Amino acid sequence: GKSGYDHFMLKEIHEQPRALRQCLRGRVDEMAGTVDIEDLADLSPSGVQFVACGTSYHAALYGAQLFRDAGIPAQAFLASEYATAVPPIGEALVVGVTQSGETADTLSALRAARKRGARTMAVTNVVGSTAARECDHAFYIRAGPEIGVAATKTFSSQLTALNLLALGMTNTQEAREVITALRELPGNVQRILDESNAEEVAETYEHSDAYFFIGRGYQFPVALEGALKMKEITYKHAEGFASGELKHGPLALVTQNTPVFAVVTGDGEQARKTLGNVKEVEARDAPVVAITDGQSEVERYADHVLELPETHPRAAAVLANTHLQLVSYHVASLLGRNIDKPRNLAKSVTVE
Ligand code: F6R
Repeated sequence: GKSGYDHFMLKEIHEQPRALRQCLRGRVDEMAGTVDIEDLADLSPSGVQFVACGTSYHAALYGAQLFRDAGIPAQAFLASEYATAVPPIGEALVVGVTQSGETADTLSALRAARKRGARTMAVTNVVGSTAARECDHAFYIRAGPEIGVAATKTFSSQLTALNLLALGMTNTQEAREVITALRELPGNVQRILDESNAEEVAETYEHSDAYFFIGRGYQFPVALEGALKMKEITYKHAEGFASGELKHGPLALVTQNTPVFAVVTGDGEQARKTLGNVKEVEARDAPVVAITDGQSEVERYADHVLELPETHPRAAAVLANTHLQLVSYHVASLLGRNIDKPRNLAKSVTVE
């Protein structure tokens, strides 16, 4: 059942702290600052190609960045596009990110890779799923069953699992810092669930013409996911952009009736640049909702702030996404949508 929640989606959003603890359990040695997962250390691939669809594709974009940050060439592909022109694989590992393990597009991309002799891995939630059975390796995200059609806790668990995967297969100087941030993540997600003012933001903007989401680096996939969730469950126009792309066209769409959700963390180069993009939006009278840890000046240009704790940007992505899940949920709820079964969508897509 829904354990007292109005919808499975809300229940699953609230299950995230537990899901993330399950994902981390027994896989991290905080004292040593290492991730010890049998199997993984021996893999040390020369490159990684991710294939995935929808929300899982957003996780894959994030995953590819994790590997690139560790000096390993990595790229994320939309599974449905991968097979149309399979890229040179060489010694790369091909990783299918698929919650269900049954998505036809992803299975067929993995099969195309295998046919060319590639080693494959499934990052999945379902033990015994087709992807888990067909791939050489399976890495489980351990989110527990997800009933709501809109992926929520499984996205957070995918991001967490991909961090473990990257830490387990590569050497990065940041390992200790990332591990600490992952350890703190379940508690930080809980704090956002308890304190987020997402409902107030939803009430303010429920009748907007469209919703835009921007972020860069690890926050770019979060922007895409924020928009996808909004589309799926509210049926409103929503788009996610890399912050830097806004001025290359999408800015023409921005009006005083299109709130822009900007994820800005830290006070470095990336934050400074995204702040510049936020000023461009604000100058065109669009409402700005900043999802931020307050380290940059972005709050000065924001109409609303969804607060994040100071943490590693990789963990901040999960936390920012939690706020955005709640905003979409509350907009959909105010509009009276069928949140757990949005029109035209199915939980598992088994046709190409
Ligand atoms: C969005 C959503 C879909 C899935 C996509 C891939 O909320 O659920 O976009 O992410 O269909 O599904 P899996 O991960 O099962 O391969």
